[in-house]
Amino acid sequence: MLIQNASWITMEGAASTVVPVFRKIFSCGKPIRTAVLEVTCDGVYEAVMNGRRIGDFVLAPGWTEYRKRLQVQTYDVKDLLKEENTLEITVGNGWYRRTNAPWTGTSNPDEFLPAMLIAALRLTMEDGNEEIILTGSGWEVSDSTVTLSGIFIGEDVDMTRKTAFVPAAVCEYPKDMLIPQEGPEVHEQEKVWPRASFRTPKGEWVIDFGQNLTGYMAFELDARAGEKLSISTAEVLDREGNFYTANYRSARSQLHYICREGHQSYKPRLTFFGFRYLRIDEAPEGFTTEQIHAVVLHSEMKRTGWLESSDPMLNQLFSNIIWSQKGNYLDIPTDCPQRDERYGWTGDGQIFCRAGTLQYDVRQFFRKWLADVRAAQHENGWVPEVVPSLTAYKPGGGGWSDAVTIIPWQLYQTYGDISFLADMYEAMEKWIAYIPTVSTTKDLWTGCWTYGDWLALDWPEGYVPATIELSKRGYSNDDLICSAFYANSTDIVIRAGRLLGKDVSEYETLYSRIVSAYKEKFSGCLNTQTEKVLTLHFNLTDEPQTLADALAEQIRACGMKLQTGLVGTPYLLHELSRYGHTDIAWSLLLRKEYPGWLYSVSRGATTVWEHWDGIKPDGSFWDDDMNSYNHYAYGSVADWVFGVASGIQPAEAGYAKARIAPQPDPRLNSLCAVLDTIHGQIRSFWKYTEDGIRYEIDTPVQTEVVLNGKTCTVEKGKYLF
Ligand code: BGC
Repeated sequence: MLIQNASWITMEGAASTVVPVFRKIFSCGKPIRTAVLEVTCDGVYEAVMNGRRIGDFVLAPGWTEYRKRLQVQTYDVKDLLKEENTLEITVGNGWYRRTNAPWTGTSNPDEFLPAMLIAALRLTMEDGNEEIILTGSGWEVSDSTVTLSGIFIGEDVDMTRKTAFVPAAVCEYPKDMLIPQEGPEVHEQEKVWPRASFRTPKGEWVIDFGQNLTGYMAFELDARAGEKLSISTAEVLDREGNFYTANYRSARSQLHYICREGHQSYKPRLTFFGFRYLRIDEAPEGFTTEQIHAVVLHSEMKRTGWLESSDPMLNQLFSNIIWSQKGNYLDIPTDCPQRDERYGWTGDGQIFCRAGTLQYDVRQFFRKWLADVRAAQHENGWVPEVVPSLTAYKPGGGGWSDAVTIIPWQLYQTYGDISFLADMYEAMEKWIAYIPTVSTTKDLWTGCWTYGDWLALDWPEGYVPATIELSKRGYSNDDLICSAFYANSTDIVIRAGRLLGKDVSEYETLYSRIVSAYKEKFSGCLNTQTEKVLTLHFNLTDEPQTLADALAEQIRACGMKLQTGLVGTPYLLHELSRYGHTDIAWSLLLRKEYPGWLYSVSRGATTVWEHWDGIKPDGSFWDDDMNSYNHYAYGSVADWVFGVASGIQPAEAGYAKARIAPQPDPRLNSLCAVLDTIHGQIRSFWKYTEDGIRYEIDTPVQTEVVLNGKTCTVEKGKYLF
């Protein structure tokens, strides 16, 4: 890349909080054939040529394992050029310069690196001559109109601020981590218009967009210079109907905009927010709700999966799951898009990825993130619990770091592309080789830090966990959870290895030792729902039917309630169906009371909540501290709806051959699932009619159809049963 010849530049003596704009003025004497700009920075940037934005990539260069990988974007800028040109690039703090970032080496914001830019512009003339412009001497820098910027802070803007350019300083900073852009770009998506505007009981002016979303606000107004528009964000209103921000924790998540004179429009350039409501804290004279809208942001990805049923509440749940995927697939798979985390939590990424791969084509999205997983993996094999990694974080326990095996395996299942396994095989091997180095029991994974079955509801009646932290972890045995995932990761290494033509005999021996050790240690103490679910899902019992029956009985006995947390929930309905308890799976899915998927829907949710009771039946909140309303983990249930309720399964990886075995339930009149696979579109529809169930199946590949226990094989085509 040409950019390797350029130098990093900065604003001499500027604090890390300064948001500078770098500038290069140049002329093009001769007609230009091509003009290609390469650029990146240690934050996020917006590049503008002659007053027009370059490219559509919002929040470029995105978030990667920066110490080893920093993406460089390449733009064709030919159409933006004139004879005399001004290239301006504004650099905000972004994900790069923030607390706990290992690449800044400090958690003290005052000691963060200053904003730095590196860029290269290659102009090829019609006559074949080239002119190359590199960051270095000859560039200028000034304070920009953005006076404060950060992913969690939001943005402060002063449009009255005058720029005063001085020469930019060349600085020493590594270039060996620069890589070409790999992930899909983050783009602006749909616009959302205010649904309502009202005064809360406290008298505050609040605008409701009717949809919890990830993106930013955009507005257009007339103002006197110096007038201010200040906006705060919220996901929900409290019990009294007031604007509620405590669940954002330390994320300020606000926009403060000082107007210039006259007509103007603006949207934040260097940050994003997660919100449904906006509070107008201050506005220029005459500002109205009609002058503002929301812009949705997410990584560019094509929709591939659709679900629709006869039940409006279930349809709202499907919509909520889509919105949570959109809101959390913003350059990396995150836990949530609003509070002071927005991290690449490996557990959440893994839990949702099956549903995620069905609903959107996420091949490029995960190819980039998995490269970051490899880059973040430590020499001795441990995988951080968040990727890109942060200093305050450690290896993830069972179900978190196992994203290193589970996600590539799922990508292979959905898309049939073996390169996901080839790329990750060594990292997978290193991960399972690491576990015995820290485990306290041979052939099991015990005695290590884990999040348990995070947020499970299975503490015995009357038992009060010693600490708040403990109360979030559920009652399942940590060693059992970790060991079950150890078995599963080893199993994936074996399957992947076989496909890749590797010798896996050593892993086969290891796997059978793990399974025996697991059975010996845990089969007598499978108490919680999650303990049973994991044992079933990872095939770690000799008596699966008896165990599944016990699981079904346990759910019935506690009032048809699930008690599973992040780890157990994604597999719960699958295991019930697999062993003949689909009726219970349906009961759980259709349950409108807490805890259940339709409870949040009954409370007006428009995205998936972190807690089943994020808002309790009496309107109070679960907690201020850890209460996201856009957390996709429990949205993983969509994969059960596609794979079991509608019955669309890959009989061969990538759906090269399919199996369609719907499991309808009379409590739902109809269900339709459509899946765009790489071999074409599969559709499975069923509907209860007066004389039975009507099934419509479209398949682009040879398919085994299983209806009411009867199996037949069909070739590609449309079928009615
Ligand atoms: C995140 C989770 C994550 C967890 C680790 C939370 O704060 O939001 O979804 O997996 O920490 O247990």
